[in-house]
Amino acid sequence: MKLAGKVAIVTGGSKGIGLAVAKRYAEEGATVAVVSRKQTDCDAAAAEITSAGGKAFGIACDVSDLSQHQALIDAVVEKAGKVDILFNNAGVFDARLLLDLTEEHWDYVWDINVKGAAFMLQKAAQQMVKQGHGGRIINVSSEAGRRGARLCFHYGAGKAALIHMTQTAAFELAEHGINVNGIAPGVIDTDMWVKVDRQFGEDAGKEPGQVKAELDKIVPYGRFGVVEDMTGAAVFLASEDSEYMIAQTLNVDGGRVPG
Ligand SMILES: NC(=O)c1ccc[n+]([C@@H]2O[C@H](COP(=O)([O-])OP(=O)(O)OC[C@H]3O[C@@H](n4cnc5c(N)ncnc54)[C@H](O)[C@@H]3O)[C@@H](O)[C@H]2O)c1
Repeated sequence: MKLAGKVAIVTGGSKGIGLAVAKRYAEEGATVAVVSRKQTDCDAAAAEITSAGGKAFGIACDVSDLSQHQALIDAVVEKAGKVDILFNNAGVFDARLLLDLTEEHWDYVWDINVKGAAFMLQKAAQQMVKQGHGGRIINVSSEAGRRGARLCFHYGAGKAALIHMTQTAAFELAEHGINVNGIAPGVIDTDMWVKVDRQFGEDAGKEPGQVKAELDKIVPYGRFGVVEDMTGAAVFLASEDSEYMIAQTLNVDGGRVPG
């Protein structure tokens, strides 16, 4: 077990990529704080983990509300004694053409994906510095953060910001033994894809499901990603195996963005 004795916070852990990573971290011996907006969703995910023999508990936190961040950290410390790992994953998708984009669209995505992630990272890092024994922070970006794409003006810019923040945070936190890295998923089959498929389909005049079906055929690896495809990199970046690695964002995308 690669994470025995560690305490991990997984934001957006109630479903999708976050839930898969939360389950895998627990299998690797970590105690997992499952974080999402609704307490019932957090509790359901934590119950799934504990019924499989893992250690987990749920704590509700809307990451776009910065006033909730310290309370989250304090609650995890109270329940589990410390914070060793942050899987900084909570996020939403929204596709807009630049010419139609409003401030409301921008704030919806950036408040969660960028501001929320930035200050979660800061609060977790402050706690890790206080503890004095290092830590691991993994920011979840996207292939959309690697290059511009139609409809991805605000979402893609936000994910690119995360790649940048990962580098700067890593340089500033290395002296504290805190490794900051990231993962840039490609196309992963989660609930998020209902909206991605609909919005891209509307833009291209395609039937529901068509965008997703077509993409499935053009992933170089040969298939759409599944949430379990993310867990190996997530464990690697949280474990001692990545000790000499900081400031990197790994493309875990079936080859969609060659590195
Ligand atoms: N699915 C993909 O193809 C894909 C590709 C690239 C990047 N990503 C990124 O991966 C991450 C996870 O996405 P997913 O596909 O698992 O999505 P998902 O919709 O299945 O899960 C998102 C999770 O984030 C939580 N969340 C959303 N807003 C929140 C908030 N304000 N506060 C707290 N929690 C909040 C949701 O409750 C949920 O648990 C996101 O950051 C997303 O941008 C996904």
